[in-house]
Amino acid sequence: MLEKQLEYIKSRTDFVPDIALVLGSGLGELADEIDIKEIIHYNDIPDFPKSTAPTHKGCYVFGYLEGKKVAVMQGRIHLYEGYSPAEVVKPIRLLRLLGAKTLFLTNAAGGINRGFRIGDLMIINDHISSFVPSPLVGKNDDSLGLRFPDMSEVYSKKLNNIIKQTADEENINIKNGVYLQFRGPNFETPAEIKMAEIIGADAVGMSTAIEAQAAKHCGMEVCGISVITNLACGISETPITSEEVSETADRVAPIFKNIIKKSIGKFNE
Ligand code: HPA
Repeated sequence: MLEKQLEYIKSRTDFVPDIALVLGSGLGELADEIDIKEIIHYNDIPDFPKSTAPTHKGCYVFGYLEGKKVAVMQGRIHLYEGYSPAEVVKPIRLLRLLGAKTLFLTNAAGGINRGFRIGDLMIINDHISSFVPSPLVGKNDDSLGLRFPDMSEVYSKKLNNIIKQTADEENINIKNGVYLQFRGPNFETPAEIKMAEIIGADAVGMSTAIEAQAAKHCGMEVCGISVITNLACGISETPITSEEVSETADRVAPIFKNIIKKSIGKFNE
């Protein structure tokens, strides 16, 4: 599985990442801070999904961030682009096979929790993925992980504590909560957000949970941060636009970059 893709990447670089980082909508700028060793576009990798989402560049950036060996996904693949769940998580599995043991996920999300404000950051404590199909459906690849993997701690408490401690040191007020993934691409209805609130979601988006599932399946330590780019439908009084999402992501970018960089600097210590 993924031999062809692995072989292609290894023909381009012998860089072995320790930490994989997925940059969500409007959050790709962090890649500018990396001491870059190689950039590989998804388009150049054989039988690999293409990232079609706006503001997602669609490449792997390999290099050093705060002295750590990282592989950054500048842009991800979404279910709403028409890919199967297994295709969506291919880039994550490939990073695992390249050597990454830790996965840091980021996304833009709508705030459901009434205590959240636009521009807040949220450490993802847990997720609800029940509204999207699992990437683990189908024949299990036993070389990757178990048929029935445990999901009691998808997001590492250890890594989350590091992020929280970093936020405190940087005087950044960071929230935490449960992320719910819907398929998209439409934003939700007020009734859907009401349901999401009742079942315990604090933020909503169109990614992340199935990537975390696949990463946990193949033995990665996972953490994630959502940027609350807007209040979710029905909580917000105005219609949601992708422009609002991008504008907030741009505005929060400096704080977001800082917390991710400093947190990663403390990983694996
Ligand atoms: N809903 C779904 N996905 C999102 C949202 C939202 O409100 N904001 C950013 N991504």
